[in-house]
Amino acid sequence: MKITMIGAGYVGLVSGACFSDFGHVVTCVDKDPAKITALENGKMPIFEPGLEALVAKNVAAGRLSFTTELASAVAGADAIFIAVGTPSRRGDGHADLTYVYAATREIAASISGPVVIVTKSTVPVGTGDRVEDIIRELCPDIRIEVVSNPEFLREGAAIGDFKRPDRIVVGTEDEWAQGVMRDIYRPLFLNEAPVVFTSRRTSELIKYAANAFLATKITFINEIADLCEAVGANVQDVSRGIGLDNRIGSKFLHAGPGYGGSCFPKDTLALLKTAEDFNTPMRIVEAVTQVNDSRKRAMGRKIIQALGDDHRGKTVALLGLTFKPNTDDMRDAPSLAIIQSLKDAGIQIRAFDPEGMEIAGPLMEGVTFATDAYDAAQGADAVALVTEWDVFRALDLPRLAAGMNAPVMVDLRNIYSAQEAGRAGFTYTSVGRGT
Ligand code: NAD
Ligand code: UGA
Repeated sequence: MKITMIGAGYVGLVSGACFSDFGHVVTCVDKDPAKITALENGKMPIFEPGLEALVAKNVAAGRLSFTTELASAVAGADAIFIAVGTPSRRGDGHADLTYVYAATREIAASISGPVVIVTKSTVPVGTGDRVEDIIRELCPDIRIEVVSNPEFLREGAAIGDFKRPDRIVVGTEDEWAQGVMRDIYRPLFLNEAPVVFTSRRTSELIKYAANAFLATKITFINEIADLCEAVGANVQDVSRGIGLDNRIGSKFLHAGPGYGGSCFPKDTLALLKTAEDFNTPMRIVEAVTQVNDSRKRAMGRKIIQALGDDHRGKTVALLGLTFKPNTDDMRDAPSLAIIQSLKDAGIQIRAFDPEGMEIAGPLMEGVTFATDAYDAAQGADAVALVTEWDVFRALDLPRLAAGMNAPVMVDLRNIYSAQEAGRAGFTYTSVGRGT
């Protein structure tokens, strides 16, 4: 199969590299020349474990290439995937489909033969209909089908998620397009990955429903964590105690500083907007977005409280800036809201993140960046663990404490226990562990 992937970001680049690894010939197109130049030189524009080697292997095999020229890349393609961004539209929270429709018009201007066009971007219900209208209007004589094929990979685990998905969702009722999608995903079907063939609109909604459900699960356990603190219970045991029930499931029950990232925050908002447009309000998801927003600020207050009444002018060592480990993505990271509330309270910040500091730098005026966790803690009054990178899981706590003014630890990811932190001299606070 010859595949064109439009957008070489987290999803487009990972999907393109994995499809080429299945044996397809893939051209990734991006309008950002810096990204394409970097990729042509073997440099990854994002941090994603395993990606560099996968890209190098498939480039060497002649199956994967990169370009800024959409027109030449789509010529002769069997399928064209749209994997451009769909951020929140400024001001109203709807998904901003500017990039999707711009890519659609560029596709329409360049295709000449039958082709399946696939929306891999997360797009609101009805977007596929609009994409189809645009292309049919501009290319009335070319056979096309527009398929929805949402992506469920997680950053930091993207290649494994793509190659061993819990399911593949394909939204089209057209037999030819179903056949093309079967051929594209053949290696996964052979591995018996479940596939859901459905209508395009249903497929589009499945993606938002999945993300909103996961965001709800996290927010639920975060509220249980608050209750645990108040009543003297342990949220990790509650998670285990409920998660062992197969009907609930053990995943996405880790209490923390609130969900962040490039998708849950924007996708829950976009779902609310769709629901509003169709007069079917979704009060649960609405509450989830509000609770999660206020939680991030509450985590800032938790750190301030741990510093005591005379917190002004004190220094916090903040460990972990990205919204989760194993990514350099800073979009909607809880650290951003936490840092803002610390700065508002007159607190100095020394931060360290293994991969996120380059991107975080311009977003964090006034923050001092350290070379590692120990450097960050040097002279600090508290250390706040915000993202659970592996490198923070086995810190030499006595060494960390030794460089600090007053060893206080606020562990927002429940990496350590009160006992082990206490042994190293820390006054320790975590999330939802009242016992
Ligand atoms: P991203 O911002 O990392 O990448 C998008 C890329 O598209 C950018 O490099 C941009 O330059 C490029 N682009 C935009 N318009 C273009 C055009 N007309 N021609 C060529 N290139 C163009 O975005 P992302 O995180 O990869 O997300 C893409 C979509 O996938 C979004 O809808 C997102 O919700 C969805 N998604 C993301 C993830 C994730 O983990 N990041 C997971 C599942 C789904
Ligand atoms: C999420 C979904 O998990 C993917 O299935 C989906 O494809 C993707 O969004 C998307 O649509 O972009 P991602 O945002 O990469 O993936 O990362 P997650 O692992 O889901 O984490 C999201 C946020 O939730 C992080 O801030 C993380 O710290 C938080 N989280 C996650 C918790 O606080 N507790 C948990 O138990 C799990």
